Amino acid sequence: MSENEGRSLVIYFSRADENYFDGELKTTEKGNTEIIAEYIQQLTGADLFKVERKDPYPTGYKACCDESLDEKKANARPELKEELNDIEKYAKVYIGYPIYWGTMPMPMFTQLEKLNWEGKSVKCFCTHEGSGIASSKKDIESICKGAKILSGIAILGHTVNDAKKQIEDWV
Ligand SMILES: Cc1cc2nc3c(=O)[nH]c(=O)nc-3n(C[C@H](O)[C@H](O)[C@H](O)COP(=O)(O)O)c2cc1C
Repeated sequence: MSENEGRSLVIYFSRADENYFDGELKTTEKGNTEIIAEYIQQLTGADLFKVERKDPYPTGYKACCDESLDEKKANARPELKEELNDIEKYAKVYIGYPIYWGTMPMPMFTQLEKLNWEGKSVKCFCTHEGSGIASSKKDIESICKGAKILSGIAILGHTVNDAKKQIEDWV
C-alpha cells in the first residue's frame, strides 16, 4: 500500500452570518456545512479545505440571496481567496456545500473545475432547507470526470447538530 492510499480530503463551502433556520432568521458563528465537515474530519482524520470567495458574500441573508442568484444566472466563476491546485495525494474526497438556488454555490464550481478527478472516490454531502441534493449531484458528476461518485447525503441545515449518527453511518 502506498503512503497516500486511503488518505481523505474534505473540500467544502459554508457561510456563517445571517441565515434561515426552519423559517426563522438567525445569525451564527459557524455554517451548517462546516459543522459536518469538521465532524467528518474528526471521524476519518481527513484534511480540510474550505473554499472561500475572495469577496465574501454579504452577511445579511437577503443580500446574500440576491448576490448569489445573480452569480448563478450569469454562470459565474467567482474568484477565490485561495485555490487548491492538486489533490493527487488523496484517494477519497468528500465534497460539501449548502444548496444555493438548487445546486452548489458558484465558488464550488470555481474550485472543483480546477482539479483532476481521475481515479478519485467522491462522496458528496449537502445541507439545505427543503430541496435536498437537487441538481448538485448532476453538476458534480459532470465536473468530476473519471471519479467514482459514491452515495451522497443531504441534511436539513437546521438539524445538523442532531445528525451525528446519520453522518457516522454514511461516512
Ligand atoms: C443564498 C442562499 C440560497 C439558498 N438556496 C436554497 C435552495 O435552493 N434550496 C434549499 O433547500 N435551501 C437553500 N438555502 C438554504 C441553505 O442551503 C441552508 O441554510 C444551508 O444549511 C446553509 O449552509 P451553510 O450554513 O453551511 O452555509 C439557501 C440559503 C442561502 C443563504
